[in-house]
Amino acid sequence: MPSTLPAAIAPSGYPQRNHTKALRQDALGYIEYIAGQGDFLKIPFPLVPTYFVNHPDLIQEVMVKQSRSFHKPFGIKYTANQLFGDNLFTSDGELWKILRSTLQPGFSVPRLQNYAKTAIGYTRQIVDRWQPGETVEITDNMMELTLRTTTQCFFGMDLYSSKSGENLLRFIELFFKRISSVPTPAWVPIPSNRELKKLLKDRNDFFLPIIEERRTSGEDKGDILSMLVQGQKADTTGYITDMQVCNEVSNLFAAGYEVTAYSLAFTLYLLAQHPDIEARLRDEIARVLGTREITAEDLEQMPYLEQVLQESMRLLPVIAFVGRQSIEPVTIQGHHLPSRSMIVVAPWTLHRRADIYPEPLTFNPDRFADGNISKSAYLPFSGGPRACIGQGFAMMQMRINLAMILQRYRLSLPSDYVFKPIFNFNTRPQNGLPMVLKAV
Ligand code: HEM
Repeated sequence: MPSTLPAAIAPSGYPQRNHTKALRQDALGYIEYIAGQGDFLKIPFPLVPTYFVNHPDLIQEVMVKQSRSFHKPFGIKYTANQLFGDNLFTSDGELWKILRSTLQPGFSVPRLQNYAKTAIGYTRQIVDRWQPGETVEITDNMMELTLRTTTQCFFGMDLYSSKSGENLLRFIELFFKRISSVPTPAWVPIPSNRELKKLLKDRNDFFLPIIEERRTSGEDKGDILSMLVQGQKADTTGYITDMQVCNEVSNLFAAGYEVTAYSLAFTLYLLAQHPDIEARLRDEIARVLGTREITAEDLEQMPYLEQVLQESMRLLPVIAFVGRQSIEPVTIQGHHLPSRSMIVVAPWTLHRRADIYPEPLTFNPDRFADGNISKSAYLPFSGGPRACIGQGFAMMQMRINLAMILQRYRLSLPSDYVFKPIFNFNTRPQNGLPMVLKAV
């Protein structure tokens, strides 16, 4: 029997209350409006049967209990695979299992402790460069910080301000553009496709000889690339070729550096708006570190630092939406959904449910003090088997960055600054984030 789910109504102000137009114009406003109409709704988008779920029990069904019946959205898969080949983010089934188990050791505790030293080194460079009284663009600075840390930890080299780094960033920029729209097939010779082809060749020309050198020397440089090359040697499926390693390492980089930078920027914004919370955090940092530099071991002594980040990612999750598409008919809470149904989960609205998070728009890190929030109610890193593989790396990196910044500076917003988060594949501040530095 077909589902009798109610259909969501788009906000007024769009011709025929058109969902696609409303989503394109203001995705965050649109999804908040839809969430106000129920926990489980059909969204009348054209072509693909689409459903919105916004309750932890429903999300548990899709992402955990019935996760085998769902794949990553077919459109995103197709676009990503054209550029990155098969990769961890968009693959499914057996292939995904092989890739995930090859990459997982790259995020083990000893490796993370090594990456922590890299994060500390680059944060030191940034805070040493800043001058009290100066106004800095925080999103740019955080982008530089995560770019340098990530390329060093992943590829064993700092690609900031290098030609290869610029090419890689442009490649990723074009990739995100393609994924956020209906792209022209890659074989059509339009200028953006020609540029993509050239960038892809540049990327391969740069990385493939490095991968070959790593493979023949057998040296473990302690980075993700070495981990992948070791995984390649151990692989009995023949699947992990040099090109696969190249695709995987650049995909990991694309998945990680920007989203970490925006999460940090949002946290610094929220702290500037809440001096009481900032003071409490500063006290914790001073109690544990005094004036000495942080080490990875110190992080365990700073629970409030972690809570601040958790609460910031609740209120302003950079990945505001995730999608899954069913590969067979599924039944969710008695509703039968056809094969190829798209399920939209929005951490943005889930995290604003007043029944789970009282006074949801208030920034209150104490919500996370007792660890009682259920996994399906908190999804900044998504959930189930497809949860973010870089979560531990990102949390470690961000805690180090924040502690070192707050140890040296108080950050405030210019009086005329207007904060507006917008969705552009990642959620980001529309007007950037200029902040004024004052020495502590
Ligand atoms: C604050 C930083 C980060 C946030 C908020 C974040 C968020 C997410 C989310 C929401 C997903 C799941 C998407 C989905 O369910 O469709 C995801 C997956 C993923 N993330 Fe992250 N991420 C962060 C940092 C990183 C970093 C640093 C890396 C690289 C080391 C990374 C690599 C990946 C990969 C490869 C996946 C796909 C995993 C799979 O499907 O098995 N992420 N991330």
